[in-house]
Amino acid sequence: MPESVRSSERPGERPNERPGERPSERRGAARTAVVWEALLPVLGDEPRDVVDIGGGTGGFAVRVAELGHRVSVVDPSPDALASLDRRARERGVTVTGQQGDLSTLLDLVGPDSADMVLCHGVLEVVDDPAAALASIHRVLRPGGALSLLVAQRHAAVVARAMAGHFGQALALLDDPTAAGRSGRRFTREELDTLLGDAGFEPVSAHGIRIFADLVPGSLLDLEPGATAALVELERAVAERPEYLPLATQVHLIAQR
Ligand SMILES: C[S@@+](CC[C@H](N)C(=O)[O-])C[C@H]1O[C@@H](n2cnc3c(N)ncnc32)[C@H](O)[C@@H]1O
Repeated sequence: MPESVRSSERPGERPNERPGERPSERRGAARTAVVWEALLPVLGDEPRDVVDIGGGTGGFAVRVAELGHRVSVVDPSPDALASLDRRARERGVTVTGQQGDLSTLLDLVGPDSADMVLCHGVLEVVDDPAAALASIHRVLRPGGALSLLVAQRHAAVVARAMAGHFGQALALLDDPTAAGRSGRRFTREELDTLLGDAGFEPVSAHGIRIFADLVPGSLLDLEPGATAALVELERAVAERPEYLPLATQVHLIAQR
């Protein structure tokens, strides 16, 4: 296992600000800490075959590879795949990048080929979310797990209203596609139905970025200990259903 992982820090386990850490890295850690905490026990310690569909520049994929798993990224963007390659080389791990998208995923990686599929920030932009989840289901081995991270509609309505975009907020209330170029926004109930229809069994559900996007970035930058306290708060509310509508994203783990 590479040095970066043998150290005491594993993804999601960084409650304190580290010397020299950039403010953007601190905010990023606060936004993804709860995702990693749900992901790590499902990944387990044995090396697994992990496919990151729409893995982009490898923010998740490279860290999963650092944990010792065999990771491939399928993404339509050649620029993202080039950045992924650079990031993986810098971190001393191998991540296979393939150009493709959710409509070609099954042909590229084959059926029953993955122990885990990450689909983070992608279901929002596909033409047919139901077909996308059906392909992911086929790519997974029986018992394999999907990690699905998706933008959540109620929080998007609030964010637009708070920014003074009242018409956009109104349009988004009941229409998942009304977010325009940034794609669909889903409710937890819609996601549960989509996953059930595709044949998945629910494992866990967490609200992500319940407060992280509401606090001013300058507060995290200037106040010692603020990021750690925010992460603790995010952890405490992530599984409370009453806070889920405030979450920028929903993170669902589901099993084939
Ligand atoms: C918001 S980024 C998320 C990147 C990464 N998954 C993460 O969480 O950091 C969305 C990614 O989805 C990719 N993408 C766009 N359309 C896609 C499609 N139809 N199938 C798969 N990936 C797609 C984009 O190229 C981009 O890398």
